[in-house]
Amino acid sequence: MRKKITVVGAGQVGTTVAQLVAYKNLGNVVLIDIIEGVPQGKALDLQQSGCLQVFDSIVVGTNDYKDTADSDIVVITAGVPRKPGQDRADLLNINAKIVKDVTEKIMAHSKDPIIIVVSNPLDAMVYLAKEVSGLSRNHVIGMAGVLDSARFRTFVALELNCSLVDVDAMVLGGHGDSMVPMPRYTTVSGISITDLMSVEQIERLVERTRKGGAEIVGLLKNGSAFLAPGASVVKMVEAILRDKRRILPCTAHLDGEYGWKDIFFGVPVELGAHGIDKIIELKLTPDEQKAIDKSAADVKKTIEEVNAFLKN
Ligand code: APR
Repeated sequence: MRKKITVVGAGQVGTTVAQLVAYKNLGNVVLIDIIEGVPQGKALDLQQSGCLQVFDSIVVGTNDYKDTADSDIVVITAGVPRKPGQDRADLLNINAKIVKDVTEKIMAHSKDPIIIVVSNPLDAMVYLAKEVSGLSRNHVIGMAGVLDSARFRTFVALELNCSLVDVDAMVLGGHGDSMVPMPRYTTVSGISITDLMSVEQIERLVERTRKGGAEIVGLLKNGSAFLAPGASVVKMVEAILRDKRRILPCTAHLDGEYGWKDIFFGVPVELGAHGIDKIIELKLTPDEQKAIDKSAADVKKTIEEVNAFLKN
């Protein structure tokens, strides 16, 4: 039977996800939003590209959660994006209400979906989705590391003037300014970038990666990045639906891994049909562990705000 992928939020990221899921024939798509007409219009438009792009996926646009029943994967992109000058944490109160409401409605119609959260501030919103859904930790995942790593990979390839596809990168930690790009685990055809670039070059690219989202927000002036975020989500959806068991940096619930408990944090995971099959613990240098601890402490603060929100 065809898989069912629900995308909540028919905005920039949600539409990109729906489009790529359909283009890759990963399953049927339900696009849902609170705005009437928009998900229906976009779904119809996308469906009409099926004979041109050659896909069989059925694409439904709706405002009714009944249409999301028995979803295999739910991607939550609902919320407001950043404005120039705002950081992701500024969105917490607005998006917490939205993500809570959406998660409750999803869970009323699907028993055991895998939820991928995109809404920001990511680490806090994915924690909220887990608390509200009551799903097991392997079924609630945040999308951040795949995107942040894609940004790092891109900057490395542009700097070295080499093929994008030869570059692999690992960015761990929270999805904020203290995220932790890992030069030691960033390679060009297996060669560590520490052998290919100066310390200053690497530092510059690490800094640009940390500010990668803000750079695009500043350029767009109205809205945030959506093409690479959408592609990053679909890489995760594909890993799950095709049981690829890919090792990807994803935002996962930590239960002692990396020395932290009860937070969602960007770590390498094995992603397959059951969601997160395992978290991979890297042997870190003292400097890397320090950077991870700083980022985790920042995430912990936003999670405390979510816990306060949930108590009210
Ligand atoms: N239920 C369903 N959809 C909602 C709800 C809700 N309660 N509240 C808002 N939405 C919808 C909006 O109507 C809009 O169509 O979410 C969509 C968000 O789309 P955009 O404003 O285009 O935002 P986008 O760029 O897609 O970003 C979405 O992802 O990257 C993050 O920071 C970003 O949190 C933001 C999210």
